[in-house]
Amino acid sequence: MDDRTNSIAGYSRKHPVKELAMGRAGRLAAVSEEAVERLVHCFYAKVRGDGELGPVFEAAIAPEQWSAHLATMCDFWSSLMLATGRYKSNPLAAHTRVEGITPELFERWLELFGETVDEIFEEGVGATFRAKAERIAQSFQIGLFYRPEMDRPKTA
Ligand code: HEM
Repeated sequence: MDDRTNSIAGYSRKHPVKELAMGRAGRLAAVSEEAVERLVHCFYAKVRGDGELGPVFEAAIAPEQWSAHLATMCDFWSSLMLATGRYKSNPLAAHTRVEGITPELFERWLELFGETVDEIFEEGVGATFRAKAERIAQSFQIGLFYRPEMDRPKTA
């Protein structure tokens, strides 16, 4: 077996590649728990190494909390893509506590997420992941940064 396909972005998976439904370009054609796990681990490996996002995440999540964060993120994406209902928390509230979070960082987050999705999944599945992420990122940004008074016409 090719070790490289089994270890995207340095994430060594415990599930052999052949268990997952593979598409033509060696990318996955279907979502499964294993595929979600692979996506989450590869994405956060990139995030932690990123010049913009890395410092914000490392300041918010202590080294010993990372495995719990990854497990939460697997629950989140499993709930969204496989309707397992495993994620029951409030993600917007968690982001109000993140020091240094900005609208620009959301752009970078979506860029890295899309890149990782495209490395792992075929186009159809990838498009669904990206659309969900974009919608949620937009709703977080409204919740975190939108101030209605900025839209109101000024009265004398
Ligand atoms: C600028 C972009 C983002 C930054 C800097 C960021 C950062 C973080 C950090 C530091 C945490 C851990 C918070 C804690 O444990 O106290 C977290 C949790 C989480 N993030 Fe993000 N995030 C971003 C965007 C997103 C997006 C776009 C999504 C979804 C598509 C997302 C989904 C989640 C979820 C589900 C959690 C777990 C919340 C919980 O504890 O239940 N994040 N994020």
